[in-house]
Amino acid sequence: MAKWSGIIAVVSLTVFLMSLTAATVLPIHPYLKVEDTFISQLYDTSNYGFLQIDNGLARTPQMGWSTWNFFACNINETVIKETADALISTGLASLGYTYVNIDDCWSRSKRNSKGEMIPDPKTFPSGIKALADYVHSKGLKLGVYSDAGIFTCQVRPGSLFQEKNDAEHWASWGVDYLKYDNCYNLGLPPQKRYPPMRDALNATGRTIFYALCEWGIDDPAKWAGKIGNSWRTTDDINDTWISMTTIADINNKWASYAGPGGWNDPDMLEVGNGGMNYHEYKGHFSIWALMKAPLIIGCDVRNITADALEILSNKEVIAVNQDPLGVQGRRVYSSGPDGCQQVWAGPLSRNRLAMVLWNRCSKAATITAKWSAIGLEPSISVSMRDLWKHKVVSENTVGSFSARVKAHGCEMYILTPQRATRSSI
Ligand SMILES: *[C@@H]1O[C@H](CO)[C@@H](O)[C@H](O)[C@H]1NC(C)=O
Ligand SMILES: *[C@@H]1O[C@H](CO)[C@@H](O)[C@H](O)[C@H]1NC(C)=O
Ligand SMILES: *[C@@H]1O[C@H](CO)[C@@H](O)[C@H](O)[C@H]1NC(C)=O
Ligand SMILES: *[C@@H]1O[C@H](CO)[C@@H](O)[C@H](O)[C@H]1NC(C)=O
Repeated sequence: MAKWSGIIAVVSLTVFLMSLTAATVLPIHPYLKVEDTFISQLYDTSNYGFLQIDNGLARTPQMGWSTWNFFACNINETVIKETADALISTGLASLGYTYVNIDDCWSRSKRNSKGEMIPDPKTFPSGIKALADYVHSKGLKLGVYSDAGIFTCQVRPGSLFQEKNDAEHWASWGVDYLKYDNCYNLGLPPQKRYPPMRDALNATGRTIFYALCEWGIDDPAKWAGKIGNSWRTTDDINDTWISMTTIADINNKWASYAGPGGWNDPDMLEVGNGGMNYHEYKGHFSIWALMKAPLIIGCDVRNITADALEILSNKEVIAVNQDPLGVQGRRVYSSGPDGCQQVWAGPLSRNRLAMVLWNRCSKAATITAKWSAIGLEPSISVSMRDLWKHKVVSENTVGSFSARVKAHGCEMYILTPQRATRSSI
């Protein structure tokens, strides 16, 4: 009898614990609720938890500019102001690039006698508040940078153990965005170092975008959704084809974890910095947009080339990135030598699909996307809009679509099925 009641107790405890586990299951992505979709469940979103950090931000990936990729530490208040002006005069701001983010090196090497982090008086003599006021007067937002360690990567003060005071200080200046890096972290686990800043930012009462920069070391996609609005999945990007493609592949692995409220971040854009050619930058931008990556410009906007401006200003590609469905596109098929002829795709709102044919081979190639490979029923007739030629290239494509793609180039399309659809989104 005692034995049986013991077993019953264990069984009921197990059932109870299972019900607790079930209660903590992530809310599903709205994409999975869409009925009668033409798109199969190829685009897994099961690891995504809807709006886990509920600060009202990142419904779509963040867009803006950051100092780091072009200027590194060679920054000052003049460059920030001139860039804010240039974002307006080039039209980039009105396309959505609104965060003006100061990366490492804005602060003095030592905190002041009150323990406050203060701007470098040589480079930011007017202070960050004045800069925030300037940027806000243009309708833009200001970002700063700190580190979940005792120093930043460039050995300025970090915010570990000082989260509350630093967050209050930034909020009092009118800061709208924080990039939070991972240097000098004392070997403490990121799951311990990143949440205190989330709570500190929240406690200020100011709405501040929280961008984790943990370099993907501890697989942040698995835990950062509850902590930040975006999380870096990789090491830093550099202005080379090999770096950009390597990073795209790593970020691709985490597609099922991204969605409104929290995005995988394969790092900032290199478009316009000169290390890749026009076709390579077009691919960089198209794939970042499809992957629902943050679109943070990394070139000198004051002196942007016509090619870079054309790429970064492509409204139709930006619209894919900012689509309200918020499902990360991914590589669905590859063929050719080392799989260099690639098809990347992802679902969009209103039962549409975005697709990139990406030729990573060193020679031009014809790339074919079969409907089965991109998650469409083979019999569906599709209208194909080319997002770089800005026109519909075919009204009734059935079964597959092929295009000739330049070496290291890409073509990008929106596919709209021609049958009436019933879709809530
Ligand atoms: C500000 O930074 C820019 C970019 O590095 C540089 O060209 C300029 O000389 C600097 N201005 C001042 C006043 O230091
Ligand atoms: C703070 O967090 C709560 C709970 O997630 C949220 O409702 C609120 O909007 C947040 N406030 C700010 C300023 O981020
Ligand atoms: C650029 O990135 C690639 C690949 O991630 C890496 O192999 C290379 O060392 C990097 N180059 C520089 C100059 O950092
Ligand atoms: C502007 O960019 C060009 C390359 O596109 C470069 O040669 C030139 O030095 C840049 N000018 C300034 C002022 O940075």
